[in-house]
Amino acid sequence: MPIVTWCEEYNVNVGKIDSQHQKMLELVNNVHAAVEARVKKDDLMKLLAELVEYTRIHFSDEEKLMKKYDYPDLAKHHKEHKLLLRYLIDMMDSVSSGKNFSFYCDYDVSTDWALIHISECDKNLGIFLNSKGVY
Ligand SMILES: [Fe+2]
Ligand SMILES: [Fe+2]
Repeated sequence: MPIVTWCEEYNVNVGKIDSQHQKMLELVNNVHAAVEARVKKDDLMKLLAELVEYTRIHFSDEEKLMKKYDYPDLAKHHKEHKLLLRYLIDMMDSVSSGKNFSFYCDYDVSTDWALIHISECDKNLGIFLNSKGVY
């Protein structure tokens, strides 16, 4: 599972969003590393819970900014956030219900969900916020 290093191209040019994305990626990488190390289920669950919790905070912060500045694509972006959270929660459920080490077989996380969302949705939000003077 690839460990992703933060690089310039992921920047959306809004300080708070960029630093939250970096933290989020770090948490995704922690999960990857834990899977590779075949840690105990409880330890993996802890890391997944941490990722879900942080992602929830991050999405909510982005949505506050969208509301504050009347972002025209708010509904679509919000829907995307809900789908991603559902994906993470479903993954936690499948890990949680897995027996012995079989939960690793069901485990299918990639950094793609985060990177695709950043490059396809958050980039546009960044451009919009920059046009409102938010950096
Ligand atoms: Fe984001
Ligand atoms: Fe987003």
